[in-house]
Amino acid sequence: MALDLSLIMFLQAIWFILPAYAANGLPVLFGGGSPIDFGKTLNGKRIFGDGKTIRGFVGGVISGTLVGLTLFYVGPILHQLIPESQGLIDLSYSPIVGLLISVGALTGDLVGSFIKRRLNLKRGAPAPVLDQITFLVFAFLFALLIIRPIPLEYVIFLIPLTLGLHLFTNFISWLIGIKKVPY
Ligand code: CTP
Ligand code: MG
Repeated sequence: MALDLSLIMFLQAIWFILPAYAANGLPVLFGGGSPIDFGKTLNGKRIFGDGKTIRGFVGGVISGTLVGLTLFYVGPILHQLIPESQGLIDLSYSPIVGLLISVGALTGDLVGSFIKRRLNLKRGAPAPVLDQITFLVFAFLFALLIIRPIPLEYVIFLIPLTLGLHLFTNFISWLIGIKKVPY
């Protein structure tokens, strides 16, 4: 099976960012307890708000790091099982990258909430693009600390993919009745 170069890049990009998706998506399961800003305000507005908790942050970092660790071990196994995957999986992946990407994603999530509170948006109010992309940008920025350069193709693939995935999961959530609006 000859794989198209852009398809390989696309799969590599997803591989690369999976820890960030886990770190950003799973805190909803761990949330609760003390908010990171301990209820403090800045000019009368919450710093981050009640949607950003210590448990959510730590749980997100741990999940993302575990996903990164799994990829680190699964990559070489895939290479052995599927020789065609050579070049498909970036073996430069290391557990520390997963940790950095996860901390980056959660930091970006905080930055997003910080901006939302400055704009008077209540916790949970939708902020299109900001809600979906800040975590990604910061995941890249943190990864850049040890991976340089990050292929520009990764960014070009992942921004629309992430926006699309969010629209898709929101639509599904609306279909099954856990969201009031389909977007
Ligand atoms: N969550 C958490 N801690 C974090 C991030 C998320 O506890 N650091 C949990 C919270 O229960 C939060 C849920 O995951 O409500 C969904 O996360 P998100 O959509 O990022 O937060 P919002 O509630 O929408 O808050 P905001 O308006 O600040 O984005
Ligand atoms: Mg939200």
